[in-house]
Amino acid sequence: MIRQVSRSTRALRRLPKAALPQVASAAVVAQPATRNAIAAYSTRSTVVQLLNNIGSKREVEQYLKYFTSVSQQQFAVIKVGGAIITDQLPELASCLAFLYHVGLYPIVLHGTGPQINELLENEGVEPEYIDGIRVTNPETMAVVRKCFLEQNLRLVTALEKMGVHARPITAGVFGADYLDKDKYQLVGKITAVNKSPVEAAIDAGYLPILTSLAETPSGQLLNVNADVAAGELAREFEPLKIVYLNEKGGIINGSTGEKVSSINLDEEYDDLMKEPWVKYGTKLKIKEIHDLLQHLPRSSSVAIINVDDLQKELFTDSGAGTLIRRGYKLINRQSLADFGNPDLLRTALLRDPEIKSGKLSVASYLKFLESTPFKSYGDEPLEVLAIVVEGKGVPKLDKFLSSKSGWLNNVTDNIFNSIKKDYNKLCWIVSENDANLAWYFSKSEGSFAKNGQILFWYGLSPEESSNLIKEFDASHIGSALSSSKESGVFSASQQARGFHNSARVRSANPNPPITQSKNEAKAKVALIGARGYTGQNLIKLIDNHPKLEISHVSSRELAGQKLQDYNKAQIVYSNLQVDDIKQLEEDGDVDMWVMALPNGVCKPFVDAIDSVGKGKSKIVDLSADYRFDTTGNWTYGLPELQDRQQIAAASRISNPGCYATAAQVAIAPLSKYIAGLPTTFGVSGYSGAGTKPSPKNDVAFLSNNLIPYSLTDHIHEREISNKLGFDVAFMPHVAQWFQGISHTVSIPIKKGSLTSRDIRNIYQERYQGEQLINVTGDIPLVRDISGKHGIVIGGFAVNSKEDRVVINATIDNLLKGAATQCLQNINLALGYGEYDGIPTNQ
Ligand SMILES: *[C@@H]1O[C@H](CO)[C@@H](O)[C@H](O)[C@H]1NC(C)=O
Ligand SMILES: *[C@@H]1O[C@H](CO)[C@@H](O)[C@H](O)[C@H]1NC(C)=O
Ligand SMILES: *[C@@H]1O[C@H](CO)[C@@H](O)[C@H](O)[C@H]1NC(C)=O
Ligand SMILES: *[C@@H]1O[C@H](CO)[C@@H](O)[C@H](O)[C@H]1NC(C)=O
Ligand SMILES: *[C@@H]1O[C@H](CO)[C@@H](O)[C@H](O)[C@H]1NC(C)=O
Repeated sequence: MIRQVSRSTRALRRLPKAALPQVASAAVVAQPATRNAIAAYSTRSTVVQLLNNIGSKREVEQYLKYFTSVSQQQFAVIKVGGAIITDQLPELASCLAFLYHVGLYPIVLHGTGPQINELLENEGVEPEYIDGIRVTNPETMAVVRKCFLEQNLRLVTALEKMGVHARPITAGVFGADYLDKDKYQLVGKITAVNKSPVEAAIDAGYLPILTSLAETPSGQLLNVNADVAAGELAREFEPLKIVYLNEKGGIINGSTGEKVSSINLDEEYDDLMKEPWVKYGTKLKIKEIHDLLQHLPRSSSVAIINVDDLQKELFTDSGAGTLIRRGYKLINRQSLADFGNPDLLRTALLRDPEIKSGKLSVASYLKFLESTPFKSYGDEPLEVLAIVVEGKGVPKLDKFLSSKSGWLNNVTDNIFNSIKKDYNKLCWIVSENDANLAWYFSKSEGSFAKNGQILFWYGLSPEESSNLIKEFDASHIGSALSSSKESGVFSASQQARGFHNSARVRSANPNPPITQSKNEAKAKVALIGARGYTGQNLIKLIDNHPKLEISHVSSRELAGQKLQDYNKAQIVYSNLQVDDIKQLEEDGDVDMWVMALPNGVCKPFVDAIDSVGKGKSKIVDLSADYRFDTTGNWTYGLPELQDRQQIAAASRISNPGCYATAAQVAIAPLSKYIAGLPTTFGVSGYSGAGTKPSPKNDVAFLSNNLIPYSLTDHIHEREISNKLGFDVAFMPHVAQWFQGISHTVSIPIKKGSLTSRDIRNIYQERYQGEQLINVTGDIPLVRDISGKHGIVIGGFAVNSKEDRVVINATIDNLLKGAATQCLQNINLALGYGEYDGIPTNQ
């Protein structure tokens, strides 16, 4: 059984914020002029009382506006239990006075239960009930009538004392027949309601105070249950509010002693009527309310509350006692025949985007359902329709279609909960443009995005989710849209942590590292321009590499000197010229050429190697000279973002720039969320300015200083934009430290599209398995990156307008920004494990 926990009609009652006059002036406006003077005093005090008693002035004003939007007699029917007039008359009177003073005219109908029994006892008459109905013989009737008139007078008098004009209406409204003359005697069944006495009272500015006495056409008084009479009034007037005041403040669950907060009749009525404590008056009351609500709009409800809570019930969103409404009965159907009305099903299916767009017809979908085991969930009018298809793998929520009112009334939640009870695992696919994406995220434990669609799931083991993603991924291959390499994976709950294993890694990261070495042979590296910081770092790395050996180091300045930091062999710097290089290439003495020269000078060397044309050796160029190559000869070697297989197959690799590497890694995962120009503020240590003396590597000048330079059109700005495929603004700076870059990237995103947590998840998933990229929730600091081989990405701050995200990234410009990345490319190109020789835990 599904209980609709929330009081959804309360949510519906939420009204647009409106410029309503102040409460006090609203009261005066609504007052007939003649009563202004007398009302002034009590109005003020009741308004004060109101504002003290209940939630917020905003709510009060909204509800006042709502209540005054209909004719006065349609505001509310309030049924007052007999015991309230005895025990809580001042509270009741002041409450009604308040409503009156703010211009609201509830129709008040009261009972007289407890007083009658007292009087009957005094007169020696034994009270007698059958099925909760008082058997009313003529002696009892005399007592009942006397009692009603007394109670009515007490209430009217109390109201008049508070400056409220109240009109006793003790007859003339309810026409009745005998309910069962033999059984109950003078008990009536209402056959007609005469509205005119009530309307006349309200028109004249009086609160109508009714008893539940009815008359036969010949004028015989008949006793009618007050709940029933109130229900008849409500049917006649269709008021915005139907309120039953009782001293218990709601319906009390007889088994637990707790107040029942809400009852959804469609779903709960049958079971409720079977509960042992539901008998006599309670049973009659619930049945009466049930019957009444069948005839009112589905949005109508009956509130059963204590008089002290009346204002709260009327003027706040939270309400007070027991709220009874029809609610939504959920129905499971397992075959098309179960749906009964085919038009209902068709209407529901027409909400499906695929069907709406014409890609799928209702008829063909129905045919699919005919031949497929499925289970459907829906409310009776199919405001929400969910279809779960059970195939061989994970059960799939094939359709989840809701009308606006289904979302508003929370039927969607109830349906989803009931699916969840039946299925401990489930998957479903939603378009990334779906208006309710956030809701789907909240229902899922993991997700995977591709080509505008998002695959969601819950309850899956890492293997299952990994297989599911593979399947989903495969279903997109060959699709016209599948050129994009982007793939964001989100996870909506902590459980996603459990997925951080290799199975998931393979599927989440579309371009996983190539860690296996396929080449057992050693290889010889020649380093041209070995003097710079990058060259030195690369030499150290090669020294620790299991298979690489240095055959030549060339540097004009260092020629003749012994190579430091290299222990595998004694090597002396040479000064290789173009012809030497050509000769070495012809002799096949070098497997890998590394060009570590300044920009713009390596072309003659490359051309020399090219001219030999044997195609055996490979080149990695560290300069910017071939990063923008359009001949197709050169491959851009950023393994985490480029196709690694392509790098492995390349013979000419241009090594990315340091700033450019970090900026691309920091921005790429958000590519499809970007809604404006990403800007990155980069600060590098002065080793980035090279070894040639300049102010940018002058430690004294940098002391207590920061130097902005090349603020537009820096070559790395061009590189970042060119490789990412969209413009990025980059503003470089040099600072006083030696090595390490800090990037602070600001990225405009579509408002509200991502939370900080979503973003972090996107990065974590995108870089799963990458040993040279760490994703952290903290802000990475440049001092921690110095000497490390990877990139650290963190920050992930989203501004309060939710349209901009800030990401920090740090990289050691000499390592992952140059030498380490170069070694990654060498490894890939030579068929070694990508991380061979790279201390990945540093
Ligand atoms: C809808 O139901 C869920 C529980 O299923 C509840 O948390 C949420 O507050 C409800 N929303 C509304 C608007 O009633
Ligand atoms: C009353 O309490 C019993 C026992 O906890 C429970 O089974 C039943 O559903 C409750 N009824 C209502 C209407 O809340
Ligand atoms: C591309 O490389 C080949 C050899 O690998 C060379 O012959 C050719 O000239 C190169 N093309 C350009 C435009 O550099
Ligand atoms: C990345 O995280 C690993 C594991 O915590 C750590 O050993 C390594 O030093 C980190 N890398 C960087 C570049 O900070
Ligand atoms: C990192 O980004 C945050 C915003 O997320 C910013 O406030 C901070 O200054 C940045 N830190 C560094 C070290 O760049």
